Amino acid sequence: MKILGIESSCDETGIAIYDTEVGLIADQLYSQIELHAQYGGVVPELASRDHVRKIVPLIQQTCDEAGLKLNDLDAVAYTAGPGLVGALLVGACVGKSIAWALDKPAVEVHHMEGHLLAPLLETEKPEFPFLCLLVSGGHTLLVDVQALGQYEILGDTLDDAAGEAFDKTAKLLGLPYPGGRYIAELAEQGDDQRFKFPRPMMNRPGLQFSFSGLKTHTRVTWEQAKGQCNSNVEIQQLKADIAACFQLAVIDTLSKKCLRAIKQTGHQSLVISGGVSANAALRDTLTKMGHKHRFKPFFPSLKYCTDNGAMIAVAGALRFKHKGIEQNNLIKAYPRWSLEQLL
Ligand code: KG4
Ligand code: ZN
Repeated sequence: MKILGIESSCDETGIAIYDTEVGLIADQLYSQIELHAQYGGVVPELASRDHVRKIVPLIQQTCDEAGLKLNDLDAVAYTAGPGLVGALLVGACVGKSIAWALDKPAVEVHHMEGHLLAPLLETEKPEFPFLCLLVSGGHTLLVDVQALGQYEILGDTLDDAAGEAFDKTAKLLGLPYPGGRYIAELAEQGDDQRFKFPRPMMNRPGLQFSFSGLKTHTRVTWEQAKGQCNSNVEIQQLKADIAACFQLAVIDTLSKKCLRAIKQTGHQSLVISGGVSANAALRDTLTKMGHKHRFKPFFPSLKYCTDNGAMIAVAGALRFKHKGIEQNNLIKAYPRWSLEQLL
């Protein structure tokens, strides 16, 4: 089965074709980052309009890359939620229309299920059941995954998502949007022991997260310490040290909660996915923790950590096999949609 995957839930238009016999055969991505960078965050209306501009040419490009015509496809999968409603509707309208015109099935995909299944694009794939840490710009979730569609959320964030905390800290330090990778780069030159940042919710039992206190602590530290700097060199070093201390606090919190959840559930595999899973220090910490505590971590390769069409295509193929589809011509998008509602 050859399935077209369409991702348009936020600021990336991602299109891919996945063949259930041979794997991924084409994959194209257009990022709107430059468009939104000047505003310091995603502007929803601009995002929708840019998806409208880019989505059809990108689908054509993806078919060309695969050497296929639309007619050769067996199904179309698209992100139906959660995300920005206007952006989701662009993908839903185009996906559903192509499927309808070809008289082929259309499959609604949950964006976070796409992230959760992204490591299946790798050669070494995780097998069900596993524990999953989903860390993106909008979500921080610890999920007990028993099988496809059997998801129990064990931990969620009470306020900011991990990626959002990275982005806000980057903004505070004057780094570009989205700031996760710039914090990571800066942190490499910093001293992560200069300040002791709090590890939110670590002293309480349970698997919940909270990053807003850490964000405030970071801001207060920056504002107090920058007043004591006497040169630009000192300011730059302070920024790097703050980035390193902040990153260590986030990684420490995420990894220790993963270990707690591994011990609680008895899972032997941990899938880490979503934009923040591209963070090299997080990957390194969880890999070492896996060696020590005998669990196996699975990460998507870097290009499939952040939003992309390939994870939607692979999730769509599995979902189609698992559930079939409900044949109707309704175009729906679900801006808020819990993973636990999936079957
Ligand atoms: O999964 P994603 O592309 O979009 C959402 O579904 O939200 O995740 C984007 C998030 C952003 O907050 C971005 O700053 C963060 O992932 N991110 C990183 C890194 N690369 C991307 N955070 C930390 N370190 C990175 N290397
Ligand atoms: Zn995402």
